Amino acid sequence: MCGIVGYVGDKSAVGVILEGLKRLEYRGYDSAGIAVLNADGLHVRRAAGRIKMLEGILRERPVAGKIGIGHTRWATHGRPSEENAHPHTDCSGSLVVVHNGILENYLPIKERLVAEGHVFKSETDTEVLAHLVEHYLKQTPRLDRAVKLALAEVKGSYAVGVVSASAPDRLITAKHGAGGVVIGLGQAENFVASDIPAILAHTRDVVILEDGEVAAVTAAGVELTTLDGEPVQREPVRILWDPIMAEKGGYRHFMLKEIYEQPRAVTDTIRGRVAPETGTVVLNEVAFDPFTVKAIQRVVLIACGTSYHAAMIGRAMIERLAQVPAETDFGSEFRYRDAVVGPHTLVVALSQSGETADTLGAIKAARLKGCPILAVTNVVGSAISREATGVLYTHAGPEIGVASSKTFTATVVATYLLALWLGRQRGVLAPGDVSKHIQELLEIPRLMEATLELEPAIAELARQVSGYRDFLFLGRGVQYPIALEGALKLKELSYIHAEGYAGGEMKHGPIALIDDGMPVVALAPRDGSYDRMLGNVEEVRAREGKIIAVTHQGDRGIAAKAHHVIAVPPCADLLAPLLTVIPLQLLAYHVAVRRGCDVDQPRNLAKSVTVE
Ligand code: AGP
Repeated sequence: MCGIVGYVGDKSAVGVILEGLKRLEYRGYDSAGIAVLNADGLHVRRAAGRIKMLEGILRERPVAGKIGIGHTRWATHGRPSEENAHPHTDCSGSLVVVHNGILENYLPIKERLVAEGHVFKSETDTEVLAHLVEHYLKQTPRLDRAVKLALAEVKGSYAVGVVSASAPDRLITAKHGAGGVVIGLGQAENFVASDIPAILAHTRDVVILEDGEVAAVTAAGVELTTLDGEPVQREPVRILWDPIMAEKGGYRHFMLKEIYEQPRAVTDTIRGRVAPETGTVVLNEVAFDPFTVKAIQRVVLIACGTSYHAAMIGRAMIERLAQVPAETDFGSEFRYRDAVVGPHTLVVALSQSGETADTLGAIKAARLKGCPILAVTNVVGSAISREATGVLYTHAGPEIGVASSKTFTATVVATYLLALWLGRQRGVLAPGDVSKHIQELLEIPRLMEATLELEPAIAELARQVSGYRDFLFLGRGVQYPIALEGALKLKELSYIHAEGYAGGEMKHGPIALIDDGMPVVALAPRDGSYDRMLGNVEEVRAREGKIIAVTHQGDRGIAAKAHHVIAVPPCADLLAPLLTVIPLQLLAYHVAVRRGCDVDQPRNLAKSVTVE
C-alpha cells in the first residue's frame, strides 16, 4: 500500500507533491521519490527512508516544473532502498512510472523485455511497466494508448501514474484492484492521488476512478476512459470531511479502518500465490530446496503477542494439512531454553513488524543450531526477514493502530498457504485436495465482508457490556487462539481484565470466577468441538454467567442458550478463525471507544517491541 500524488497546473509541482506525500505517509514510508518535467526534460529525485530524506535531497539538488508525480513506498518487491524507490524510469530516462499494488506476472514480462535489450535498474515489479510503456510508444505516439496496451498485459493489481516527455502537458493514471485513485479538480490545475487527504488542501471536488479505468489529466481537464478506450462520464463528488478524518478514509480510528481492510489484506496476501485449476501453491520467496523440505521432521512456530495466536492456528494447519509435527513457542522463551532443534527442524518466525526483539533473538538462537528459518512478516527488509533463510510476506499494507488486526488475519492466511505448500511438497496432499482448500480460502474475503456487516449489532452489544470489569473468552481447537486473541484485544484497547481459556480447562479453575458479573464469550462455530462447547455454555449458564456466543449462522443449539448471539457465516473449520476474530476485534474496539480509551495508541504499548 503505497501513496501516489501527481500535479499539473501553474504552481510548483514539487511543493504540491511533497505536501501531498506527507499526508499519505501513513500508507508507506520506507522510501520516497518525485519526478518533475520541465523544458529540459524529466528530473527524478529519490531517497530511502521517510519523506524528510527526500526533502533533504531536493534541497541539495532542487528541481522545478509545473507537472510531476511523487510516491511514498511500502515495499512489496525489492528491499527498501534508493534504487527500488519510485518513480522508475524507462531506458531513455524520459518516462516515469509510480505504482501501488502487485504485478503478478512481472517476471516473464521482464525476461522478454531484457531479451529485447531493455536494461533494468531495480528489483521491483513496477519497473517493467516503465519499460513496457516505452516498448509500446514505439508502436503508437499516444502516451495514453501506450499505457493502456501495457496495462492490458499485466496481471495483478495496480494504481499507477505515468509522466512522459513525449506528452509534456499530461499525466496518465489508471487503476485496477489496488488501493484508490482520486483526481482532484482545480481551476486550471488538476491533481492525482491515492487518497483524498493528499489533495484536500487544494480542492474538495474529486473524481474517483473505478477498476479498469484510465484518465489523461491535463491542467485544462480530465479525459476518462476504460482500458478498452470507451469514454466514461462521471460526476465529481464533493468531499466534506476534515483533513484528519480523510486520512482515516472516513473512519473514526485507524484501527477501525484496518479491521475493515481485512478482506483486501487477505486478498493481497493470496494474490498470485494460488492456482486452483492445478492445485498449486507458489511461494517463490520461501526458497528452500526440495531436499530441505523433505527432510523436515518438525516445525517450530515462534512469535509474540497476537502473532503468537496466529502461530497457534498455524500449528494446527501444518499438522492437519502437511502432517508434520508442529509446536509453538514465545520468542522470549525459545531463545533461552536451549531447545532441542537442528537442521531438520523448520523454524517459522511470525512477526508483523519483523522487528520484535524476542522473535529476532529466538531465530538467531535457532540459526546457531542449524535450523532452516522462514520469516512470515508484513515488512519487507525488516530485521527478521534479513535474518531468515526464506521469507513469506503478508501484503496487509502498513498497520497504524498499535493493536494488530489486519496483520493477524493476513498472517493466518500466509501460514495456511505455507501448510498447503508443505503438504504438496511432501506429497501428503494431492493436487485435488489443494484445489479444494484453495477454493475454500478464496471464499474468505467475501465471507469477511459479510461478517463486517455485524458491526452495528456489536456496537449495541458493547453498549450493554462495557461496564463489566472482567471477561472470560472460551474456545477449543483453532478457536482457542481466538479466545486468547479476543481477550488480548479487550485488555489492550479497553484496559478491562480478560482471560482466554481452552474450553476444556474451564472446570479446572476459572469456573470459580463465574457469576452474574462475568460475561463469557464462547467461540462455538459448528465444528468438531461444538458439542463440547455446548457443555461449557451449560456450565456457565448454571452459574448465572452472561453468555455471548459466537456461532455459525443458522445455529439453534448454543444460540438458544446464550444471552447474546453473534452469528458468522459458515466456512471450513480451519479457516473459521479468520471470521470469528472479526466480531471480537469490533467488540474490543467499541467497548474501548465507549470507555473513552485511546484506541489507536493504547497506554504503555508500542507498535513494535524492539527491546527485550
Ligand atoms: C497486538 O495487538 C500487539 N500489538 C502485540 O501483541 C504484537 O502482536 C506483538 O508485540 C508482536 O509483534 P510483531 O507481530 O510485530 O512481532
